[in-house]
Amino acid sequence: MQSPVLSHPSERETSLVNRIATPEQKAEFLDKADHLPRIQLDARSTSDLEMIAIGGFSPLTGFINQADYNGVVENMRLANSTPWSIPVTLSVSEEVAASLKEGGLVRLDDPSGRFVGILELQEKYHYDKTNEAQKVYRTTEDKHPGVKVVYDQGEVNLAGPVWLLQRDPHPQFPSYQIDPAQSRAQMQERGWKTVVGFQTRNPIHRAHEYIIKCALETVDGLFLHPLVGATKSDDIPADVRMRCYEIMLENYFPQQRVILAINPAAMRYAGPREAIFHALVRKNYGCTHFIVGRDHAGVGDYYGTYDAQQIFEEFAPGELGIEPMKFEHAFFCTRTQSMATAKTSPSSKEERIHLSGTKVRGMLRNGELPPPEFSRPEVAAELARAMQVTS
Ligand code: ADX
Repeated sequence: MQSPVLSHPSERETSLVNRIATPEQKAEFLDKADHLPRIQLDARSTSDLEMIAIGGFSPLTGFINQADYNGVVENMRLANSTPWSIPVTLSVSEEVAASLKEGGLVRLDDPSGRFVGILELQEKYHYDKTNEAQKVYRTTEDKHPGVKVVYDQGEVNLAGPVWLLQRDPHPQFPSYQIDPAQSRAQMQERGWKTVVGFQTRNPIHRAHEYIIKCALETVDGLFLHPLVGATKSDDIPADVRMRCYEIMLENYFPQQRVILAINPAAMRYAGPREAIFHALVRKNYGCTHFIVGRDHAGVGDYYGTYDAQQIFEEFAPGELGIEPMKFEHAFFCTRTQSMATAKTSPSSKEERIHLSGTKVRGMLRNGELPPPEFSRPEVAAELARAMQVTS
């Protein structure tokens, strides 16, 4: 199959935002820090600050204002009609909001109390949580982990450009900390014209491997981009997942055609809306294509299996600047003894092996290894080892 021809993003107009303070700016901010009002960020806002600063959320330069918020929630667009599907906001209580003046600087501390950034506060505004839940997450149930975050946060959004005080090496994965400007440069150095991005928050299984490799058959390179920001407490920890990726690259992938990098963003579990968001973020990292499989970024039964693919139809061709590569539910087919989907397999339901994440976690807890039709044995062994350490 010939891949569709798209110019490399670095040749397109998508310019990257850089909001990392220069040493001079940092010195100035440090000088003022003691006199500035202070806000303690949670894990998600801390990673949002980082993503904005490194250009992962380009064109955002800060937490969005009311006009952008309304556009994003209602129409998946910023006020200037640029596609954007998830509100990136900083919320505080009424009390805290009342103590802050528009036009001033606010000091941003991370959850450990470390001074990490500056907000140039331009606007404070109230917002409708139930409406945000319904439009962005398609449910108002507080059992949904993304909706719960919205309901638990403050009543007032603070908007304005931000500065990240400095770019520190990632505490766990410094060698995989590749920012958008670097990944774009690496793709160009390798001469990749077409690059497919893969988002994941789960340990890699054979269905992942299958759809990734199907995609890789048609493009020049693969940008493997596991999310390592905040996830639900029952998701497998990022260090375990990263070890599984290392095992896969050593044993099962052509390493020269893969860049493995961490995505520091937090998971929202917003299904279809998050698929668009994930694609736009990967465009910033230099990808021309983005994999969207079954129930992408979904949780529980909130979304239909292919809702996250259908939502791409709501944008004009080429408008997003990145092409989705859509894959049906993949499984191991016992009749053909290979990975397949309903598009390529003649099998009946009984001949298809697919396991849910919950089932696999249950097996691991009981000391059972998931079968080789589901997981590569080296990955299964790594997961079992990690499960023993934590239980
Ligand atoms: S996600 O929350 O990041 O989407 P996960 O890590 O499980 O969760 O999925 C990563 C990507 O693989 C997503 O695009 C998802 O749709 C896809 N995917 C996961 N399992 C399958 C499967 N069995 N068949 C097809 N696509 C899948």
